[in-house]
Amino acid sequence: MDLGLDGTVALVTGARGNIGAATCAALQREGVHVIASDIGVDESAATADGLEWRALNVTSEADWSGVIAQIEATHGRLDILVNNAGIAPMDRIDAMPLADFRRAFEINVYGVFLGTQAAAAVMAKSGTLREGGSAIINIASGAADKPAAFSAAYCSTKAAVRMFTRATALEFSALGYPIRVNSVHPGAVESDMMDAIYARYSELTGMSVADLNAAVVKGHPMGRLVKPDEVADAVVFMASTAARYSHAAALHVDGGNANT
Ligand SMILES: NC(=O)c1ccc[n+]([C@@H]2O[C@H](COP(=O)([O-])OP(=O)(O)OC[C@H]3O[C@@H](n4cnc5c(N)ncnc54)[C@H](O)[C@@H]3O)[C@@H](O)[C@H]2O)c1
Repeated sequence: MDLGLDGTVALVTGARGNIGAATCAALQREGVHVIASDIGVDESAATADGLEWRALNVTSEADWSGVIAQIEATHGRLDILVNNAGIAPMDRIDAMPLADFRRAFEINVYGVFLGTQAAAAVMAKSGTLREGGSAIINIASGAADKPAAFSAAYCSTKAAVRMFTRATALEFSALGYPIRVNSVHPGAVESDMMDAIYARYSELTGMSVADLNAAVVKGHPMGRLVKPDEVADAVVFMASTAARYSHAAALHVDGGNANT
């Protein structure tokens, strides 16, 4: 199957994280030129990974407009945007500072809004260059549909990302923009984020990390956590012409977890 990705240009946010790094590598393997971005990146530092690194704080309108303008000037196109940057603060609702709750929305939701807004015009133009058009992929989570204790902020942001994805998809079609907009929903991923979640949950409840991990694994019918590569492959699919008629869709990569 020809994925139609060779020679395309992608921007990935949160690229230093586990899922972001796997996504950059998976896109690269399909011949995509990948602009990898993260907060506080030193753009002058040489890297041997073949990625074009950009400093991009997803909550900054100025960062978004600067990076998108640079991409347009250098490459003349942007085919794929992966809104991946995210945080997962955990706390008791009766103890969580408003600033922490707000920060989750600023990064996980406003960041997706700002990226979509900044990239829409160039992606609409690029969408005429290949079958299926351009593709925005928002990394949501199983938490968009499944609540979890001490994660009200995170779950609320991911539900918002899911609805933002659906509404954006309809709007871009109404405007005639050839941009598909979809979300990918990982289950619990083998990652630093999941390790931090276990540690914090353990702190809040007294449960051991081993017991927590066993409970989480039990919730995944295929019997293990998700690997970052498995999320990355789903992103590649959604970015490709193989997904040319997938729009406003939610692709779960969770070994069946959403159904437990
Ligand atoms: N790890 C999981 O189990 C899991 C499960 C479901 C969904 N997700 C989602 O997948 C995405 C990636 O998660 P991950 O596991 O790779 O996490 P991670 O913590 O390894 O990576 C997140 C990245 O986002 C970056 N980031 C944070 N704030 C930023 C900002 N303001 N601007 C730009 N970048 C910023 C961080 O620097 C980091 O590199 C997140 O949206 C997360 O919610 C993760």
